[in-house]
Amino acid sequence: MQERLEALQAEAIAKVEEASDLKALQEIRVAYLGKKGPITEVLRGMGKLSAEERPKVGQMANDVRAAITEKLEQKEQRLEEEAVEQQLAAESIDVTLPGRPVQVGSRHPLTGVVEHVEDVFMGMGFSVAEGPEVETDYYNFEALNLPKEHPARDMQDSFYITNDLLLRTHTSPVQARTMEKYEGKGPVKIICPGKVFRRDDDDATHSHQFMQIEGLYIDENVRMSDLKGVLETFAKKFFGPDQKIRLRPSFFPFTEPSVEVDISCVMCGGDGCRVCKQSGWIEVLGAGMVHPRVLEMGGFDPNKYSGFAFGMGVERLAMLKYGIDDIRHFYTNDYRFLQQFKRA
Ligand code: DAH
Repeated sequence: MQERLEALQAEAIAKVEEASDLKALQEIRVAYLGKKGPITEVLRGMGKLSAEERPKVGQMANDVRAAITEKLEQKEQRLEEEAVEQQLAAESIDVTLPGRPVQVGSRHPLTGVVEHVEDVFMGMGFSVAEGPEVETDYYNFEALNLPKEHPARDMQDSFYITNDLLLRTHTSPVQARTMEKYEGKGPVKIICPGKVFRRDDDDATHSHQFMQIEGLYIDENVRMSDLKGVLETFAKKFFGPDQKIRLRPSFFPFTEPSVEVDISCVMCGGDGCRVCKQSGWIEVLGAGMVHPRVLEMGGFDPNKYSGFAFGMGVERLAMLKYGIDDIRHFYTNDYRFLQQFKRA
């Protein structure tokens, strides 16, 4: 009996050691320790033993059962640990692999140009003002010396909301609004970037919506030479230190005298090319000395104060600076176009 049990224990333990998965262990457990297994058989047959032998064999059978169980459990634990390790190894991440690049957008070129212009003028003591895009007839025209029926209104046909409300055709109404805020006391020194709207046919250089930047400087003794100096500084800072400007006489109802301002051609440097139509100059903005009637309507005494104003098109500046040939590129949201304005 004793030998039988010892042999069973050795056999079972050898099988446990050989087993390579949990299923095999379960089979061994059933085969040796199950109800129909040899150890149960031994225990069952104990009735036939003498009273002296019975406890010894019982004790021994229990020891064998315990030894096999322990071995099974050890092996089970080891197999489970191995399984976890294998899984970890299989699922491990290589942290040294390069990551997938994140797609980063870029600032719209018009935003970039507006910010650049703001920087330049802030450097000369200007601050940034704003006004509404839906404007009254009074601020858009009347307060700028463009009374009803004035022929110059034709050049700025607009989108009307009511007879008296329209989408502003230029940023100049911010001049009138700003003057009112200052209640007749200078100095006023602002620029105003913003969207403007005109009932225009859209083509490579025209759009029914575009952007302007307005400038206004009112103080005692502001002269035309101040206007020229400020604009020349702007041209050099924005386009480059070799830029020259030239003023040509023009007409705007809100300035007197009025000028068109040209910069030397950014493409050919002034030698003459297709872009400047061989003239060497490119028109970039309108400007002039604020008309005394405009000062007066804005609450400023024209005998004490004088000032200059200017207005420029943002798209035009951007097209010249970056060599863009069609204004519609700005509004079509083509990723290939926008991507070129990413900062390095
Ligand atoms: N408002 C004018 C336009 O849209 C541009 C302009 C010209 C603005 C002369 C000014 C100025 O302030 O003095 O065509």
